[in-house]
Amino acid sequence: MINKIAVLPGDGIGPEIIEQSIRVLKAVEDRFNHKFEFTYGLIGAAAMDDCGEPYPDKTHKLCQDSDAILFGAIGDPKYDNNPSAKIRPEQGLLKMRRELGLYANIRPVEIYRKLIGRSPLKERVIEGVDLIVVRELTGGIYFGEPRGRSENGQKAFDTCVYSVDEIVRISRIAFNMAKSRRGNVTLVDKANVLATSRLWREVVTELNKNEFSDIKLEFLFVDNAAMQLVTNPSRFDIILTENMFGDILSDQASVLTGSIGLLPSSSMGSSTPLFEPIHGSFPQGAGKNIANPIATILSAAMMLESVFNMDHEALTIKKGCEEAINNGILTPELVIEGKAYSTTDIGDFVVSYILNS
Ligand code: IPM
Ligand code: MN
Repeated sequence: MINKIAVLPGDGIGPEIIEQSIRVLKAVEDRFNHKFEFTYGLIGAAAMDDCGEPYPDKTHKLCQDSDAILFGAIGDPKYDNNPSAKIRPEQGLLKMRRELGLYANIRPVEIYRKLIGRSPLKERVIEGVDLIVVRELTGGIYFGEPRGRSENGQKAFDTCVYSVDEIVRISRIAFNMAKSRRGNVTLVDKANVLATSRLWREVVTELNKNEFSDIKLEFLFVDNAAMQLVTNPSRFDIILTENMFGDILSDQASVLTGSIGLLPSSSMGSSTPLFEPIHGSFPQGAGKNIANPIATILSAAMMLESVFNMDHEALTIKKGCEEAINNGILTPELVIEGKAYSTTDIGDFVVSYILNS
């Protein structure tokens, strides 16, 4: 069986980290006798340079026709300091998520023992951390209408909107995930201020009562959750939250692991699932062979597990990454002293681990 993968490298370090993930997937083909068909597509600034559109129809069609999407990163500084730019690369990613209906973004945060000293937080704080951020991805303030500027340009506005259906479908995913873990869901919101948050609380409470009464549900305001993520992170099992809070808290949670370059994610919904690192395009690092490819390689592992039922292959990739870390094969952001390795070195290590496993 041929497994069709749409490959969207995107901007900045995207192409470099994707290249290593593709090498890893090719090693999986060789070692485990599978066949993947990789088709490349443009997204973000790379697509805008080509045709003016950050998510061209051709890329959308490619995604729809594939079994899974592997995506690198998006964003280019040439658009960041131009507030009057009408189109921005990030719109490509948002459009892709929205048009493919990818409403559930799963961001696991696991600790590597070997890297405990690399986190700015104390060892006793990080000990035992194993959590997943379940982030709603196609609603909230990222997409709500109206949005924009007043006619005289003196005001700007964004709108946060959530419907009951949008809350129910993502919450079901969070509750189901909790079943095979420690059975705790923390809903993070700002219900003391926001009407949307109060709707989330109401809907999630009902769902818990009616369908998932074996799961322990608790509530935290987002400011408190942000604090507890760095004072007592091991208390969290599943963090269920809306789009914007999930974006912010998952970057914050990455600090626990030592580097944002380690965290993968999957996005599921009504169409082709998408796999991407949680980090951005790191433009200062582009072309220097210094970016950490592990988050993207682990995203490919998540893809094998959840789309192609290749649990063993996914586990082999994960072990390869862990072995790289245990052997001190680390990119510069994780090295305090001693030798730092390159993006391709990490790829080489994981590839040879797979081929020799
Ligand atoms: C992420 C990113 C995106 C987001 C940006 C690039 C639009 O930060 O995937 O976390 O805000 O969702
Ligand atoms: Mn983000």
